[in-house]
Parts: sequence; structure tokens; C-alpha cells
Amino acid sequence: MRRFDGVSRLGLERLAENAAQIRQAAGTPFFAYDWESMRASVSHFLTCALTADLGGRLKVYLPIFALPHIGLIERVHDLDVHIGVVCNSPEEIAALKSWGWSDWERTVFSGGVLPENDLEQIARTGCLVHAASIGNLEILVNGRWSSRVGIRLDLTNTALKGARSDEIDDWFRLADLSDNPIGAIHAYPGTAIADYDVLVHHAETLLTVARGREALQEINFGGGFAYDYGSRVGDSKERSNLDKYFDAVRRAVEAVDGLDRVQLGWEPGRVLFAQTGFFVTEVIEVRKTAIGTADVYVDSSFTNLPSPKICGRQHQVVVLDSSGRLKSGSAYQGRLCGATTLSSDLLLPGPVLIPEVKPGDLIVILDVGAYGRAGAYNFLGKAMPPEVLLEGDGFQIIRRRQRADHLLDGFEHSTSDVRTVLKNAPTGA
Ligand SMILES: Cc1ncc(COP(=O)(O)O)c(C=O)c1O
Repeated sequence: MRRFDGVSRLGLERLAENAAQIRQAAGTPFFAYDWESMRASVSHFLTCALTADLGGRLKVYLPIFALPHIGLIERVHDLDVHIGVVCNSPEEIAALKSWGWSDWERTVFSGGVLPENDLEQIARTGCLVHAASIGNLEILVNGRWSSRVGIRLDLTNTALKGARSDEIDDWFRLADLSDNPIGAIHAYPGTAIADYDVLVHHAETLLTVARGREALQEINFGGGFAYDYGSRVGDSKERSNLDKYFDAVRRAVEAVDGLDRVQLGWEPGRVLFAQTGFFVTEVIEVRKTAIGTADVYVDSSFTNLPSPKICGRQHQVVVLDSSGRLKSGSAYQGRLCGATTLSSDLLLPGPVLIPEVKPGDLIVILDVGAYGRAGAYNFLGKAMPPEVLLEGDGFQIIRRRQRADHLLDGFEHSTSDVRTVLKNAPTGA
């Protein structure tokens, strides 16, 4: 893997080689994902689990909410029989249905407390639904749908949803009264947990809950593995101790009687996808603010990529010239200023040390493959950026840019209708 000024990511070279052409085809800003990185990252996760001898019972569910591109998720899903998908909202399930998804056996729902209608639509697909409230559980176990029923646990009383420790027995009892006993338990440990002991402890706690529950077929440990956004080296193999984690979990599973046939699931988001994605935006103008500082105005906004700013998370940045050649050096600490009226429109929480830049250069923000475009929104009418997939020597546009006039996308009646509706609206007293 080539290093760009000390920073390396699988796929960065491919991005640089294709950047000028992508700009021509899709414009800026855009998100780019690197297929080889995705394969490498997923294969690393699977290999660590398989090496720990979890093979026969392993399930790895890809969180659609971390990378909401159904086609891309399907392609990753098709890489291995252990891979499934996890949805958190009825809308994600609806998108899967529209896409023609058929692998509901390897699909789980691990979202929140839902209205009955939504719950029913999900349950009819046949996926595994983790109920997040006692009311939702009651609906599921008494419904005549093909879904499998699990429950979500809140082991730390911080999740706002799921059975708290003192409620778990009641939830099991309720299901036992129906023909539909609880077949799965799920608990999300919280996000970006760097301490693997905490994750192992989380797994042990879930296993304690599983002890003696004979109808259980699956335990889902959630996601929550940290990704080091500060690292200049983006190869997950160099940085993770997933192998030790899986080994510890296997030992913990073996220590509990009666779990030999139980499937073991995970829903890793950022640790699988973060390093596979790039956000590319063009420099419009530069204002030097002092000897070593500058405001770098770019053609995007934090609304295109909200999570670094919202989470106060500084990402690594690389600069390419307009033909995609790496710029090196460190001329100033640049604030990446978004192209909107907001005085808070900064793409990253702090300034970044970058080489001298000029209009037309490309700023590449690294590690945005998870919760990157997923968090983008339309505030100020900003259109959602397109997405491209880098593969082999080239790239494919896998989602076009949202229409610039999406505020009039047809859902508000036609323009003439809505004028009439508003003209005839009763006026207030
Ligand atoms: C239920 C559930 N599962 C899995 C994930 C993925 O978590 P992470 O990206 O921290 O691995 C999340 C993230 O919010 C979640 O809510």
C-alpha cells in the first residue's frame, strides 16, 4: 500500500488515479468506496472469527444504516454464507423489499419500539425481529407471521429500549404463554468501544442471560468495535485485536452448558466500513488568516457529511491537485469551510495541516465509509452527493447526485396544484 505523506489507505491510490475522471463524470463533492478495501475488511473480520473456531455458528450482519446503499450491501452479503444484513428502521426493510431482497433468513431487525403497522410489515418478511418493548413483543408472539421472534436487551439501562435486567424474566414468561417462545437475544454494547475487555464483558453478560433458556437459537452481540480515526495507517489488520476478542468469546461460550447449537451473531458497522470510504470536495477559494493558518472554502457542506462535526471527530485528510496528483508538504492549518451561510459550517471539528492549496484542488477526507453519506441531510436544500465504487482500474457511479431542485421533487403536488391549494387555503381569523 503506497503512503501519501505518511497516510495510507487501501484504495487511496485508485481514488487518486480516477479522481479527475470521476469529477468529470459525477462532479464534486462525491463519496467513493473502494471494493477491494471492503473485501479485505470483511474477510479480516470473518477470518478472525473463523480462526477462533466460531465457524459453524457465525453470523455477521451488515448494518444497512452504516452504509445505506442496498446494491453495495447486497454485493458484500454475497461474499460469504456467514454474512447477513441488519436493519434498524421500517424504511430500510421497505427498501430491501423494493430491491427484491430474498434472503430474509439472514436478515435481522434490531431497531427501536415501533407502531403496530410497521412491526407487522417487518414481521411478514420472515426476518428475525428483536422486539424492543414488551408491547412490541406481545404483538409479535401473538401475530401469525412468519418472522422469528427475538428480544433486544438493555444491559446497562442506557439504551431507552429493550428489556432491562429486572424485566428479562417477565419478557420470557410472556412469550412462553404463546406458541412463539423467544428464539434470540440481542444487545448492543454502545458505539466505538476501544477496550476489548469491555466488549468481552458485554458478551459474557449476554451469555449469562442465555444460560438455561432452551428455546434460544441465536445470541447477537451487536457491534460497537472502535475504529481509530486518528490513525494514519488505515489497514484494519495492523490495528485490531479482533482475533483475541473472538477467542475470548469462544471460551466464554464454551463455559456455558447447553449453547452448543446456538448461533452467534455480530453487527459491526464502523470497524467493517469506515476505512473503505472517501469524501472528495473541491477547493473554491483560500483565505490566509495568519502566517500558518488559512480558511479553505470547499464546494460541500457539513450537511453532506455531518458525523465528524457532530461527534467532534477529526479525520485524516489528503490533498490532490486537479489532475489527481498528491500534493505534499504542510503549509498551514486549514479550516475546511462549507459553502453555506452557517457560521458553524466546518467539515471537520478542527483545522487540518495541509499543503498549499488552490482553487480546483481536491480535499479528500478519509474513513467515511460508515455513517458518512448515511448521515447526510437536506438542510438548506443541499443535494445529497453521488456515490462511486472504485474497482480494478476504474470506477462506477452507483448513485447519482440528488436533483438540485429536489425541494420540488413532485411530492408536494405539482407546482401549479400546490399554488392553487395554497391560494384557496382558509385564512386564519
Ligand atoms: C442495533 C445496532 N447494531 C449495530 C450497530 C453498528 O454499530 P457500530 O458501527 O458501532 O459497530 C448499531 C449502531 O448504532 C446499532 O444501533
